[in-house]
Amino acid sequence: MTLAVDYKRLGKAVARFAKARVLVLGDVMLDQFVWGSVRRISPEAPVPVVEVNSETYMLGGAANVLHNLIALGGRASLCGLVGEDEAGRQVRELLDDLEVNGQGVLACPDRPTTVKTRVVAHGQQVVRVDRENRKPATREEENALIAHLEKKLPQVDAVIVSDYAKGVISRRVMEALRRLVTQHGKPWAVDPKVPNMALYSGATIVTPNHLEAAQAAGLGTESPDYVAQAGRKLLKQFKFAQVLITQGERGMTLFAPETETHIPTMAKQVYDVTGAGDTVISTLTLGLVAGLTPVEAAVVANYAAGIVVGEVGTSAVTAGRLTQALQAGVRQATGRN
Ligand SMILES: Nc1ncnc2c1ncn2[C@@H]1O[C@H](COP(=O)(O)OP(=O)(O)OP(=O)(O)O)[C@@H](O)[C@H]1O
Ligand SMILES: [Mg+2]
Repeated sequence: MTLAVDYKRLGKAVARFAKARVLVLGDVMLDQFVWGSVRRISPEAPVPVVEVNSETYMLGGAANVLHNLIALGGRASLCGLVGEDEAGRQVRELLDDLEVNGQGVLACPDRPTTVKTRVVAHGQQVVRVDRENRKPATREEENALIAHLEKKLPQVDAVIVSDYAKGVISRRVMEALRRLVTQHGKPWAVDPKVPNMALYSGATIVTPNHLEAAQAAGLGTESPDYVAQAGRKLLKQFKFAQVLITQGERGMTLFAPETETHIPTMAKQVYDVTGAGDTVISTLTLGLVAGLTPVEAAVVANYAAGIVVGEVGTSAVTAGRLTQALQAGVRQATGRN
């Protein structure tokens, strides 16, 4: 079945992304890549010796959602925690490069910045090293996050919660967020962590992948319609307005109380699926702010995800690239070349 969508309308909405202001609340991370080559096995242990050629840094976690929003032309800001350390300074530098104000990224003396280091040799990941502290935010840190939300909420069109369970998303912070979005009438989208599902109750849209959705709904994945069962259950149990369940190569399904819409993947070639979830929630939210229906916004998000998984070393899609893909969609739908 092909979805009947008006591609021109979608393209016009992408042009309006530039007006959208989105606040990302969540776990900020730094992705470090150590690039090297291997010529020998270590005499000390049966492991390769990587001779380092270079190191690069990218924004990760909630900060990668921010990066996606900016690449798509949106105006975005970030609220989260980093440490008072070198990695925290790197995060600020990367935010400066994107011309994003780092005010909402609070430096905490007693927690390290979350860093994921990938050592890559000859195009292959050799090992990943994680440095993180998953302890919940202290009361003081929560207060600082809430104070920033209170200040910022009136000035944004939507909020994205990017939860990686590293301490930012707590009951108190989410209660404050719920009060503020209700008071100001703002939509909020959540990329969830299963154990925190109840903290997001009432969200405009939640975007678990199919495994997270099944787990949160207390279902196995044996039944052929576990995705549909999970979607319906999550909607009801947590009073979400919509649930978008992503399913890797099987695309995504949007659940609303009265409707279910499956959207098959757009990807033709797949190189690198990491971070596709961040691209989905960013594009989806910008689409909603730009006035698309949830189904239309999900279709655009699915295009963006199809692009990002099809390119090597890309973690974000530009508005230009997305517009091109949508134009190709018009040609396909109308049979014109
Ligand atoms: N292997 C794939 N083939 C085609 N499309 C894919 C593939 N993997 C991901 N996608 C596209 O990306 C979307 C999101 O991917 P997925 O369901 O893997 O999210 P995720 O598990 O949350 O990812 P992440 O690792 O970023 O958290 C899918 O709905 C689909 O459109
Ligand atoms: Mg995900």
